[in-house]
Amino acid sequence: MHVIACYSNKGGVGKTATSVNLAHAIAHSGRQVLLCDLDPQGASSYYFRVKPSKRLSETRFFEGSDRFADAIRASDFDGLDILPANRSFRDFDRFLSRIRSKRSRLSRALVAGGAEYDVVVLDCPPNFSLLSENVFRAADRIVVPVPPSTLSERTFEQLVEFFKDQGLPRRKISAFFSMVEGRKSLHRDTMARMRAAYPKRFLAASIPYSADVERMGLRRAPVAEYAPRSKAAACYADLFGELAL
Ligand SMILES: Nc1ncnc2c1ncn2[C@@H]1O[C@H](COP(=O)(O)OP(=O)(O)OP(=O)(O)O)[C@@H](O)[C@H]1O
Ligand SMILES: [Mg+2]
Repeated sequence: MHVIACYSNKGGVGKTATSVNLAHAIAHSGRQVLLCDLDPQGASSYYFRVKPSKRLSETRFFEGSDRFADAIRASDFDGLDILPANRSFRDFDRFLSRIRSKRSRLSRALVAGGAEYDVVVLDCPPNFSLLSENVFRAADRIVVPVPPSTLSERTFEQLVEFFKDQGLPRRKISAFFSMVEGRKSLHRDTMARMRAAYPKRFLAASIPYSADVERMGLRRAPVAEYAPRSKAAACYADLFGELAL
């Protein structure tokens, strides 16, 4: 089981869009994939037309108990299952703060609940929290979408600093530029500066700002399903290829 987290400490950068399109690409390549929607807002469950799980409390989730397996739903795509979000996921941090192995509990839960999958994709909520610390430890790769703006540059610096301070392996971080508007000099300059500052952290693939991606909310499907010849679909395929999963 290989664990890929789509994470950023910044909101609205494309974590969910990446989780959905990446999970779909991995399943399409013949692997068994579980997408865990860890964000109580449930956006990736929504995109895959899966209803929130009523029965899965945060306690059951972290126990990796039978309830975890019971809550997993099939998607419309072969090899791609979803663990839908639940509103009790808002209480993840309260639960984690009360237990002893508060920083490593997610790894255990995934081994217990997701062992039969080749790849587990985590769609994460945007913050630094006990849950995100669990994600940093449980994930083999942390895929970070970075829109090329000044604010995103600061948030990315904070993430790298956090890894340094906590002694976490920075090699896990695979960032890519998201929502790129190539005509904007601010975007081009920010990308060049960040690639120079973090030569090992950024993938070559990037995702353009695209109406085809925005339409995911209406189509409730991965881009490659309803716009297979679009630039966005090709870029998500490049991203998947470069991650070499
Ligand atoms: N490449 C893109 N081009 C255009 N719009 C995009 C792109 N990627 C994402 N969006 C849109 O931007 C919004 C935020 O994207 P998304 O939900 O994937 O971000 P997120 O990081 O998961 O947000 P949150 O922090 O709220 O979980 C959505 O409306 C989505 O449709
Ligand atoms: Mg999201």
